[in-house]
Amino acid sequence: MTTDTLHAAAAAMVAPGKGILAADESSGTISKRFAALGIPSTVELRRQYREALLTAPGIESHISGVILYDETLRQATSDGTPFPEVLASRGILPGIKVDTGAKALAGAPGETTTEGLDGLRERIAEYYELGARFAKWRAVINIGDGLPTRNATHANAHGLARYAALCQEGGLVPIVEPEVLMEGSHDLARSSEVTHDTLREVFAELALARVDLQGIVLKPSMVISGSKGPGSSVQEVAEATVRCLLDCVPASVPGIAFLSGGQASQVATEHLDAMNRLGPLPWTLTFSYGRALQDDALRTWGGDANNRKAAQDVLALRTKCNSEAALGKYDRALESV
Ligand code: 13P
Repeated sequence: MTTDTLHAAAAAMVAPGKGILAADESSGTISKRFAALGIPSTVELRRQYREALLTAPGIESHISGVILYDETLRQATSDGTPFPEVLASRGILPGIKVDTGAKALAGAPGETTTEGLDGLRERIAEYYELGARFAKWRAVINIGDGLPTRNATHANAHGLARYAALCQEGGLVPIVEPEVLMEGSHDLARSSEVTHDTLREVFAELALARVDLQGIVLKPSMVISGSKGPGSSVQEVAEATVRCLLDCVPASVPGIAFLSGGQASQVATEHLDAMNRLGPLPWTLTFSYGRALQDDALRTWGGDANNRKAAQDVLALRTKCNSEAALGKYDRALESV
């Protein structure tokens, strides 16, 4: 893997009008999503659901990459084609979640740090062999009374940097995902302050670890009022988020692909669209949504193979709407086509 290949893969992930489908829920997380809809979480049903997503007709026009979980990266379609091969044959890059989750941070009540560095070099080598070309690691920052602490911000940024350096050494583009959670009663200004502090710390640690910024994709949360906060308009979110990114993200980063973080699907699309209408920016702004791409499709599928085609159509519509939003050309009328 040369530097050029790494840069080319990162650029392809955030190519204009394309975004990333986050389908990397751990078995525990997908089981919770299934349970909420009364779907039993068996290995085979999880495989069928992921097969429906990955083979949805038309998504290759809007999706540059799909993030998978360890179980899924090793699975295959019902005709025996490995999932990474299915994606590659459609011009979609296979990706892999490599963190092992956010765990309680000792000495920091209410805060977590993300684990998964032990043995990561070897796992990256195996994932590359299995066809992965990029990876993801999610760090979580909680806003609350006195939170986040400097300790948590630093520990999470440090973990992201060590992960990113290992990925680049092993030929994978690291998606660097510092998520400032929406949960809480904070307002937009507090979200902006914490996102600033987090991104500044992340880029300081990436620099210390000699991470090549042209070979990463940043996956941040948007600057947004807390879920129990005073609320914020689409325009306020777009302006505050872009201002924060301009202050903190070097222009050498090729692209920024947002997580949806619990926003309603259409709202996540509107936010992305509004940001891209603010004018030329140093990096591409696109999506790497999980729930905001999958929620409607999962509900439509409901664990029933007869609904597979309808679920695929629903996914294709969301990817199309978000692709338009990534170009600042989203039109609500698309939703009812
Ligand atoms: P959401 O878009 O549902 O927040 O998921 C994105 C993701 O990859 C979380 O790590």
